[in-house]
Amino acid sequence: MCGIVGYTGSQEAAPILLEGLKKLEYRGYDSAGIAVINDSRISVSKVTGRIANLCEKTSDGKNCPGTAGIGHTRWATHGAPTDTNAHPHMSNDGKFAVVHNGIIENYIALREELTEKGYRFESQTDTEVIVHLIEMYYSGNLKNAVIKASSRLRGSYALGVVCTDEPEKLYAAREASPLILGVGIGENYFASDVTALVPYTRNVIYLDDGEFAEITPDSITVFDPAGRPVNKKISRITWDVQAAEKGGYEHFMLKEIIEQPGAIKATIAPRIKDGKIVLDETGLTAEYLKSINKIVITACGSAYYAGCAGKYAIEKLCRIPVQVELASELRYSDPIIDEHTLVIVLSQSGETADTIAAMKECKKRGAKTLAIVNVVGSTIANIADHTIYTWAGPEIAVATTKGYTTQVSVLYLFALYAAEKMNRIDEELYKRLLESLNTLPKKIQEALDMNPQIPNLAKKYHNASSLFFIGRNTDYAVALEGALKMKEISYIHAESYAAGELKHGTIALIEEHQPVIALCCNESIMEKTMSNIIEVKARGAEVLAVTFKDNQKIVSLADDMIYVPKTETIFAAAAEIVPLQLLAYYVAKENGCDIDKPKNLAKSVTVE
Ligand code: AGP
Repeated sequence: MCGIVGYTGSQEAAPILLEGLKKLEYRGYDSAGIAVINDSRISVSKVTGRIANLCEKTSDGKNCPGTAGIGHTRWATHGAPTDTNAHPHMSNDGKFAVVHNGIIENYIALREELTEKGYRFESQTDTEVIVHLIEMYYSGNLKNAVIKASSRLRGSYALGVVCTDEPEKLYAAREASPLILGVGIGENYFASDVTALVPYTRNVIYLDDGEFAEITPDSITVFDPAGRPVNKKISRITWDVQAAEKGGYEHFMLKEIIEQPGAIKATIAPRIKDGKIVLDETGLTAEYLKSINKIVITACGSAYYAGCAGKYAIEKLCRIPVQVELASELRYSDPIIDEHTLVIVLSQSGETADTIAAMKECKKRGAKTLAIVNVVGSTIANIADHTIYTWAGPEIAVATTKGYTTQVSVLYLFALYAAEKMNRIDEELYKRLLESLNTLPKKIQEALDMNPQIPNLAKKYHNASSLFFIGRNTDYAVALEGALKMKEISYIHAESYAAGELKHGTIALIEEHQPVIALCCNESIMEKTMSNIIEVKARGAEVLAVTFKDNQKIVSLADDMIYVPKTETIFAAAAEIVPLQLLAYYVAKENGCDIDKPKNLAKSVTVE
């Protein structure tokens, strides 16, 4: 995700801003820039690509004199990674510059309003509306202009603002995106996280949502949306920089598991407006959707398993056949695909070689392609006919978590959107399912909070030589991803099986004390899965059941329990996978594995 920094004091600002941006590089970005005030002018330098390009362009900051400024690393969401779209963004009158981390959900309406009022836009970003709002509301009092402009924004933001009329001052504002103030001596700072502050100060003030800050070299004043001063305590950072990059978590994977409610909210919320799903960004028209007679989902690894989970929702709601194909198989299978096939391509990185190749095979056969990717401007995004971005932010750990759950969430969005466009769903069901989608972030937070026993379960199972994950229908789809998570970070052999398949061979492997993880969250076939639990128990298996808190029947059968919150069955995977991500994480930790960088694996498999 984006990162912002700010400095005001007696030193040259540019070198400090550049060093701060380097400390934020781990967050992932594709462009960067700084703005420094000097002689009542704002000079802005922006580049696409790495901070090194910015250092080269500014001669390590030497050609940007001034003692106050702001900086930004951009993870593109709205608008491709280009110099123009890079931050900081300037007002038309040149008085203001802004840096922003977050997503402004109502930026289209604001852009229309500002354009009608004569403000000229240069970029495709959502952020640019902020600097023009500040210019519009400014009448000599920057604090009031920043507060008024922020009151018009819907979504998430951590803002940094400079103004030529108050050259020593920085303004900062926070709503749902982290922002921390650094307290120095004769100089002060702000940054998206402490990694950029620790080299200069360990005394920090954490801004809370809805708060603003006026920062000068000798003072920091925090105030609320009404402009009233707020007392804030100064905290002392004891983390080392490496720990700080993980937000205080021991591993990026755990940080990214915890980030999932926010990642899914950022992905879903901007696409639900006035009780309707709005995917106009895709260009998928009702006419086109009515013309297709098949959907093929293709991907690799966890993205493939996300497709397996999304299949149930699309088939149930759209009543159209959905084939989920491994990209490495599809590309060589001479697939039966034509102009009446919609091919959905899933990829966190947008650079997976097999997926790209499979996509090209499908396009050759006349299919339209819809990419669901997490990296703006990635190869898959550029090749696709239509694209829906997952706004999970950069995923650093090799084992995907928020990448998977945001992909599944977008497939749920698409299923409901397409069903409505294809006139396959009634108003009442649409409304009920839309409400269910809106509650997904909360359900995932519940799934994170309701299993404090998982670290102890990990101690019990971490020595297992093999693990079986079984389930039926939507539970089976989750079992597939749960087994992969366990394999790739704990190195324990784990197999996922359709529970109904056990008696066709696999049950021969069930011996005394064989751990079996049974997923039982699909109420329509719960009795069947319970029979499978009884079957394996009869042969000595130890069963860890994954089900709802009130499911007493399963509790009496299983040896151990993991709980998930109830959701619509077709939307179950996004929350049901969460405790299995945590189980894999804690088992791997017990085994002393390199959790963020598992052996033999790469974050993006860009070769065949
Ligand atoms: C998942 O944890 C793995 N890292 C791997 O299976 C991954 O999902 C697969 O390589 C696909 O990557 P992509 O989503 O970037 O295309």
